Amino acid sequence: MKCSRIVIGAAFALSALVAYAGGNPEHVAFPSGYGAIFTKYTTMNRSGSAAIAKMYANDAAIASYMKGQAAASGSIVVMEVYKPKKDADGKPIVGSDGVNEISKLAAIAVMERRDSWPAGYAASDRVGTWGFAIYNPDGTPKQNDLPCVACHTPLDQQDFLFSHQRLVDFVKQ
Ligand code: HEC
Repeated sequence: MKCSRIVIGAAFALSALVAYAGGNPEHVAFPSGYGAIFTKYTTMNRSGSAAIAKMYANDAAIASYMKGQAAASGSIVVMEVYKPKKDADGKPIVGSDGVNEISKLAAIAVMERRDSWPAGYAASDRVGTWGFAIYNPDGTPKQNDLPCVACHTPLDQQDFLFSHQRLVDFVKQ
């Protein structure tokens, strides 16, 4: 009993210390099993780094875009971030499609849209009705200090998604 109290106490102290400045994993959950149930709509080199992004959207998001609408409440978009394979000189190896070859999954970034969020989720941590969180490949919250809101806020003409055009084009196929 005493032992478990210490363990719980330690876990609590640790969670208070861990800062998820970028994103709110307590509100935007890891979408377990997304690889099997979401639709991959693009693979691209990340802008400003050699990393590779694979983007996935859930059925709600795909259905919205098929209707030519912005992502409805319940939409989830996932970006897997991969490290690139490198050659002997440390340069990323570019595949025949122009996209760097992937080596290892490094992070899973999630955006979820909901018409209403719990009061505890500050509007300043969201972009409109989109919430953010980023996870390690094992699904645990990734410690980071990325200003998710700052980067995505200017994209109000494209549903706050960088890969908006790719999603629009994908659903047309
Ligand atoms: C420095 C700017 C920047 C920050 C900070 C940032 N993003 Fe993004 N995000 C991008 C860019 C740019 C893309 C498109 C891929 C690329 O070119 O790198 C993107 C793509 C995404 C996508 C795929 C959907 C889309 O918009 O294309 C998700 C999901 C995402 N980001 C979530 C997050 C989360 C969660 C955080 C915070 C933990 C975050 N982003 C922080 C710039 C940013």
